[in-house]
Amino acid sequence: MDKFLIRGGRALKGRVEISGAKNSALPCLAAALLTDETVILHNVPYVKDLITQRRLLEDLGATVLTPELRTHKITARNIATFEAPYELVKTMRASVLALGPLLARFGQARVSMPGGCAIGTRPIDLHLKAFEQLGAVIELESGDVVARAPKGRLVGADVGFEKVTVTGTENVMMASSLASGRTIIRNAAREPEIEDLAELMNRMGARIKGAGTDTIEIDGVDAMSGAEHTIIPDRIETGTFIVAAAITGGEVEITRCDPTHLRAAIGKLGEAGVEIDELNQSTLSVRRSASGLKAKDVITEPHPLFPTDMQAQYMALMTQAEGNSVIQETIFENRFMHASELTRMGANISIHGNEATVHGPTPLSGARVLASDLRASASLVLAALCANGETLIDRVYHIDRGYETIVRKLWALGADIERITDHEASAAEAVQSV
Ligand code: UD1
Repeated sequence: MDKFLIRGGRALKGRVEISGAKNSALPCLAAALLTDETVILHNVPYVKDLITQRRLLEDLGATVLTPELRTHKITARNIATFEAPYELVKTMRASVLALGPLLARFGQARVSMPGGCAIGTRPIDLHLKAFEQLGAVIELESGDVVARAPKGRLVGADVGFEKVTVTGTENVMMASSLASGRTIIRNAAREPEIEDLAELMNRMGARIKGAGTDTIEIDGVDAMSGAEHTIIPDRIETGTFIVAAAITGGEVEITRCDPTHLRAAIGKLGEAGVEIDELNQSTLSVRRSASGLKAKDVITEPHPLFPTDMQAQYMALMTQAEGNSVIQETIFENRFMHASELTRMGANISIHGNEATVHGPTPLSGARVLASDLRASASLVLAALCANGETLIDRVYHIDRGYETIVRKLWALGADIERITDHEASAAEAVQSV
């Protein structure tokens, strides 16, 4: 397995360009299943999850061309099967996003039930309940969810989510877009990725109103067409680079981002002593304030509040802040896996239930650490960048799922970071064992 070797202590300086949002590109690729015409997506990040999503579409029978690295031309004319197999679902939960569009267009879908993952059980019961409200019949067969629309077409309904779910909202938007009649989604997720998906789908001929608010109205149409769309910038990658600049005491210009998509994170980081100037609509200039980093409590909540996907990176930053900060995780039940690895690097973190208290500041020192999930890996990279000495991060395949060319981007900012490939690692281990 590939590893990152980071020698910490260098202040990052320079300019970094933000890639397209992974969490927007994933549903947008799935939405291409709603039509037999071609959907062209620009600014698709070149990350492992998108390669997996592309493979899923190809396995279903769609053609996916990439005339340029970040442009996908998807034509789902000849769909051969309606099944997302276990091999794909187990590596990427977002493959459940195939359920909604397949059910909408073909009246049937089969998706392997996602199991647990490092950050909790992550069920899809809310997606399935909503599909049932749209008239689908759901059965569990040999570990697969099998969904059918009895007369081949779903029927619009009033769907209320008891808990805010991002991919659940996206799945229901896609499922109901070709249903007969009107669907109303209540307690819908309000993430910018939902708005981006709605924008693409409306270009494809869907009739969606209210995306970005907690009530979304969808008037079903008979068919959808091809469209062209550019994916929004990745707000979590933006937040991660803000923390990278602050934690290393550097000065970084972040370009091609959208600050309006991460107001809560920018606000909290500002309170904690990170100076963030908006140079224009898509450029931020970031440095640590002269008075230093201050401990500030945070609670993760659905958008527009502080995102769970920034919690691990924020925790890494708080290890360098003056005072005690309480970080409360309300979205996922087991999302503090990075805390024990940060502790191995010298952080002082105590955990009680869903609350972590970071007692700062503590100097960090390089260590061998293990990445446990995508954002946990990012927090270890950030900690390593400010630690004394060398950190070897194992299992970085997690970070490859969602951060485009992170080694190259950090290296260009002056970080001392290198990827040790599987091949090099096993050669080194072989030499050591001689
Ligand atoms: C999405 C994001 C992920 C982010 C998360 C929360 C994508 C591809 N992934 O994940 O990066 O961390 O939103 O912002 O967009 N839940 C249920 N039953 C369900 C669905 C969800 O109990 O059927 C629970 C989950 O276990 C979790 C909470 O609801 O506790 C929110 O999860 P959800 O918003 O669905 O996360 P994802 O859409 O999987």
